[in-house]
Amino acid sequence: MEVQQTMRMLVTGGAGFIGANFVHQTLREHPEYEVTVLDALTYAGNPASLAPVRDDIEFVHGSVADADVVDRLVGRCDVVVHFAAESHNDNSLRDPAPFLTTNVVGTFTLLEAVRRHGARYHHISTDEVYGDLELDDPAKFTPETPYNPSSPYSSTKAGSDLLVRAWVRSFGIHATLSNCSNNYGPYQHVEKFIPRQVTNVLSGLRPKLYGAGENVRDWIHVDDHNSAVHAILDRGRSGETYLIGADGEKNNREVLALVLELTGQPADAFDSVTDRAGHDLRYAIDATKLRTELGWTPRYTEFREGLAATIDWYRENEAWWRPLKDGVEAAYAAQGQ
Ligand code: NAD
Ligand code: DAU
Repeated sequence: MEVQQTMRMLVTGGAGFIGANFVHQTLREHPEYEVTVLDALTYAGNPASLAPVRDDIEFVHGSVADADVVDRLVGRCDVVVHFAAESHNDNSLRDPAPFLTTNVVGTFTLLEAVRRHGARYHHISTDEVYGDLELDDPAKFTPETPYNPSSPYSSTKAGSDLLVRAWVRSFGIHATLSNCSNNYGPYQHVEKFIPRQVTNVLSGLRPKLYGAGENVRDWIHVDDHNSAVHAILDRGRSGETYLIGADGEKNNREVLALVLELTGQPADAFDSVTDRAGHDLRYAIDATKLRTELGWTPRYTEFREGLAATIDWYRENEAWWRPLKDGVEAAYAAQGQ
């Protein structure tokens, strides 16, 4: 019988939406990893998202920008998967400062520790580094698309990607990068589009659509994002960038219409509100490299089913999101959204 070697994995941002789902999937499907989570527990980090696996992981409360804690943890792990970030565009328009500290300085701090200790590093990033596409453009983002970020959030993510590429080339660290499109699924903060609309309906509030709702996002279930990250960890080539997407383009009006239908609301039961400043028009991912080179395929190919399951999750887990809801809505209301 083959005995599998245990590897020690550091997951940053593991109390956030994608990170928590990644930890759950890793423990479920990849018993070869022992997991330590490093998370600052900002407004977006929720220990309750890790409650089901609390006894199976080590949790360290701290910042990726803290060089001492990062050095100690990277020094005793084999693999680092870096999810931690300030992740919300609207917040970056209100106050960009924490985006610089966490996304740029935090990534730099991890890279320096990886350089010292020789751990394998995977960098989680976004398709927003490529800017946006026209609505009627058949093109999609590829790994060759030039960087052209629009917001404080996406520009700090672009900066962090470029640091990783420079550390690969200049210092020879063993690193891979992935840029994924919009995720949906359980444990997503209620500030984001789908959870905000679902929890508005569940709270008796009207959903809020920015502008005309024509902006297109390329939706992928969070478990598909995370299975792609595992494919890259297992088979990805060092220094390479993989785009993660599941051909899920929809405009915001279409997504909202589905939320209203699945929650039994009239089709016109929403408000159009002030548009986001600099609002990117369309994102679309060409994931050919991931599919052909690494043999990855998504499991959630029916958006309607994945969305219905996500709505059920928010219905059944009100205790998880209710404490966050009023503060988020007050901040949006203050800016007419
Ligand atoms: P999130 O906001 O839900 O979670 C972020 C987590 O990082 C939280 O737990 C927070 O406490 C933690 N964190 C923030 N600052 C920290 C710091 N200084 N030190 C340690 N921990 C800190 O974000 P998410 O949506 O889960 O996104 C995770 C990653 O995936 C980000 O890098 C984001 O750019 C990327 N991404 C997100 C999407 C998406 O659709 N949500 C798509 C593509 C890529
Ligand atoms: O593309 C990947 C990115 O997807 C990630 O890098 C980001 O971390 C993640 O937040 C997400 O960014 P978006 O800005 O696309 O997601 P958000 O959920 O904020 O908004 C999705 C779309 O819905 C966008 O066009 C704005 C719109 N919107 C959003 C909110 C919160 C609304 O119409 N109404 C709303 O209330």
